[in-house]
Amino acid sequence: MRTRANPVYCGVDTTDLAQATRLIQSIAGGPSPAVGGIKLGLEFFLAHGAPGVRYAFPTPVRATGVGFFLDLKLHDIPNTVAGGIRAVVDLEPTYITIHVQGGREMLRAAVAEAAERAARLGVARPRLLGVTVLTSLDRSDLEATGVPADPSDQVLRLAGLARDCGLDGVICSPLEIAALRRACGAEFVLMVPGIRPAGSDANDQKRAMTPRQAVDLGATHLVVGRPIYKADDPRAAAEAIAREAGVNNL
Ligand code: C5P
Repeated sequence: MRTRANPVYCGVDTTDLAQATRLIQSIAGGPSPAVGGIKLGLEFFLAHGAPGVRYAFPTPVRATGVGFFLDLKLHDIPNTVAGGIRAVVDLEPTYITIHVQGGREMLRAAVAEAAERAARLGVARPRLLGVTVLTSLDRSDLEATGVPADPSDQVLRLAGLARDCGLDGVICSPLEIAALRRACGAEFVLMVPGIRPAGSDANDQKRAMTPRQAVDLGATHLVVGRPIYKADDPRAAAEAIAREAGVNNL
């Protein structure tokens, strides 16, 4: 069987610094990480900022090659978003999220700033991932904002815009993987939450998919939170999910 890179990014959804630090050390520390990456989002970043990231996810843990998804969902005027990107590139995130609805100029400013700042600091360029239509919005929510489109059509439209403006991929729901893979090509990153191991509790995820299904449809990365961090043994849970996704060298 072919070995694939570990696609599992663990969503560390907490404001508890000690808990986040322990969790990250247990799943990503040591010579062989159980995850492909760590996702820190608004909750953690607003509470602890850049110093919190450096504390909970320190260089020795990063050194194993584990990825870092900084899920900030930026959305503002181009100059401000570029400034936000500039402020976090030295944390060396592998991925940063940005709302595609911010428009072309904002997207291009973010792409340019990510490349320029990374070159200046001599670090890898963060990849930018677009947020298209939040899965919490349905057709009537879009209509209320003056967008008379079916959410799935709007996702495709915004993903195309993201790609045209130089973004590296998008966040998408399991149900959108196949259409986006067809529309956006083989290289486009598809980072997919809403993943549940076969036979596990879906929690509040209404349209969850298993790791294997999502990867087979074309997901490049899987965001998994509760099934890992609420498990009695988070490391074992992460490894089992990675194996389900086809990783066979853990
Ligand atoms: O615990 P669970 O595996 O459901 O966590 C999934 C992660 O992905 C959380 O960090 C959640 O915020 C994020 N996410 C999601 N659904 C979306 C977008 C993001 O579950 N549509």
